[in-house]
Amino acid sequence: MTLPSTAHGTRPPATTAAAAVSLRAGRLSFGERTLWSGLDLDVEPGEFVAVLGPNGSGKTSLVRVLLGLETLSAGEVRIAGREPRRGSPHIGYIPQQKALDPDLPLRGRDLVGLGLDGHRPGIGFRGRRMRRARVDAALAAVGGTSYADAPVGRLSGGEQQRLRVAQALVGDPAVLLCDEPLLSLDLAHQASVTALIDRRRQAAGTAVVFVTHEINPILPLVDRVLYLVDGRFRIGRTDEVMTSTVLSELYGTEVDVLRVRDRLVVVGADGADAAHCHGDEA
Ligand SMILES: Nc1ncnc2c1ncn2[C@@H]1O[C@H](COP(=O)(O)OP(=O)(O)O)[C@@H](O)[C@H]1O
Ligand SMILES: [Mg+2]
Repeated sequence: MTLPSTAHGTRPPATTAAAAVSLRAGRLSFGERTLWSGLDLDVEPGEFVAVLGPNGSGKTSLVRVLLGLETLSAGEVRIAGREPRRGSPHIGYIPQQKALDPDLPLRGRDLVGLGLDGHRPGIGFRGRRMRRARVDAALAAVGGTSYADAPVGRLSGGEQQRLRVAQALVGDPAVLLCDEPLLSLDLAHQASVTALIDRRRQAAGTAVVFVTHEINPILPLVDRVLYLVDGRFRIGRTDEVMTSTVLSELYGTEVDVLRVRDRLVVVGADGADAAHCHGDEA
């Protein structure tokens, strides 16, 4: 098909259609400040990409671009084969763990059902039954059936976060965007949420973009790392990016990456050492 020529001239064959996420020459600026530019990233179906970097480096903003909540200042982006748009059923989103209001008048299954609202399967009995079946399946997949009807605000942080995973998966997404989903969970819940995400990836080939301060809980799952620091970034396999040389370059100061048993410990960068050693919010 030949596209009619427009005032913009010919479009470069920029993004890759088959990729789950395809970003070309992406730039995001707010006023004078550029968070990142020249960012090229393809995420393949089933691939797990970790997005790392100190606070303020633009990790959440990248997720917001992919969710269609923020517009690139330059470049092109496609996700699940389309331009990002709000409320896409093909995109699952797991936000940071936050305690919900104890008096929130919402049951576990209502929270999960919100993940279907972008593409309600019609009204009427059949639609309601289909909807209920999908919500039940998503609840079962995260082990949340027993608290499906409990008020969400009364559940533990780990239980609430499992429900958020179910909400993200209930729409059967091609891409899962996770923004620090393990923050403030204890180690056991970190492990279970991570396992749920990985199971989905293995079973359905869902691509995962996972923003985190702390790589260790997901280290065995990570295919590639995007590491952002103050406008500089590096993309590559974990062993290519998580080195003393690369992180020293990114931080502009001497940083050591140590391997201690099966963990990576980053020492010497503001906001890097605290985060990587303890997994706390810096
Ligand atoms: N809509 C916006 N307008 C202006 N500044 C913004 C906006 N969104 C984010 N920022 C700024 O961009 C920077 C990066 O934010 P963010 O993407 O949240 O970083 P991270 O998630 O890596 O901590 C922050 O300094 C933030 O204040
Ligand atoms: Mg953030």
